[in-house]
Amino acid sequence: MKKILIATLAAGAMVVSLAACSQGGSASEDAAGGGALVGVAMPTKSSERWIQDGKAVKEQLEAEGFKVDLQYAEDDIPTQVSQIENMITKGAEALIIASIDGTTLTQVLQDAADAEIPVIAYDRLIRDTPNVSYYASFDNYKVGQQQANSVLNGLGLVDLEGEPVDGAPAGPFNIEMFAGSPDDNNATFFWDGAQDALKPFIEAGTLVVKSGQTDFEQAATLRWDGETAQKRMENILTSSYSDGTKVNGVLSPYDGISRGIISALTDAGYTTGEEWPVISGQDAELDSVKAINSGEQFATIFKDTRKLATAAVEMTVAVLDGGKPEVNNEKDYDNGEFVVPSYLLDSQIVVKDNVNDVLVDSGYWTEEEIG
Ligand code: GAL
Repeated sequence: MKKILIATLAAGAMVVSLAACSQGGSASEDAAGGGALVGVAMPTKSSERWIQDGKAVKEQLEAEGFKVDLQYAEDDIPTQVSQIENMITKGAEALIIASIDGTTLTQVLQDAADAEIPVIAYDRLIRDTPNVSYYASFDNYKVGQQQANSVLNGLGLVDLEGEPVDGAPAGPFNIEMFAGSPDDNNATFFWDGAQDALKPFIEAGTLVVKSGQTDFEQAATLRWDGETAQKRMENILTSSYSDGTKVNGVLSPYDGISRGIISALTDAGYTTGEEWPVISGQDAELDSVKAINSGEQFATIFKDTRKLATAAVEMTVAVLDGGKPEVNNEKDYDNGEFVVPSYLLDSQIVVKDNVNDVLVDSGYWTEEEIG
């Protein structure tokens, strides 16, 4: 039934695009996409970065002549599954998916495979399925290292490349560590990269995790939720710092988590300045860029969503043309079924000193937006 429906829709689409051609067609429909539909599934609008991602992917696909069905699932897994089902039913010729939980799409992607629809995993790896064609993301292990290096840099221990600096303080510094959502493949990559950078300093006694919470499971934050992080930070401050000692650094893997940590610290009586801890982040979200300028957050990791969109759109065009997209990693992203060929982009540490160079000069945010 579904196949008949898809065939009917596809035939309909052909008639429409032939009609468009006979009338001369629009500039965009004459481009690579030829008016074909691409489904774009994004996790949530509650985080600014995914809004930026969705906008960039849609604009770039449309510029290539595709029609776009862009959907957000508000972090609800069944909603995302049914949105993807819908895209398949509507006759999407390709899918670009940033999953909520990377392990929950196995069945719906089997349906996509049955309809011969290629799937691009966007930023987050889709796991436990052979039915993903390519993966576009950043070097997530390196992002984790950058997060740790930004904390170490704020404490005066390394430069922004992670190289030791002369005359570094001996410490010991108290740090606490947060991880991302355990159902997101990226979270362990960020954590592993960060741990490898922090480990020598923990082993040397320069850094002390006073709560003793050093396992990924203890540090994980389901759905990257800021309030969950805030509660955990409050609990840690109560259980491990009520003797008056201060936390000097907090490893945070995402700006929304950093904002939760900042709220917990403020509520516990910390004020920016001398005893305010060094806090990392990720995504260069606008509120967090403002927090970097005001000194509440030390750093974020900038991942240019426009470039990620370009990588995913180029993959889509190449696959639909029957070609092979460019990849630069064919070893690190095993999804439990196979190593998914990947294109990984570079990320950058942003601190107060380079906010303008990195974010304003590149046109990601304007000076007015940052304020
Ligand atoms: C990750 C992503 C991060 C951050 C986080 C929370 O998958 O790589 O950049 O956005 O989700 O949304």
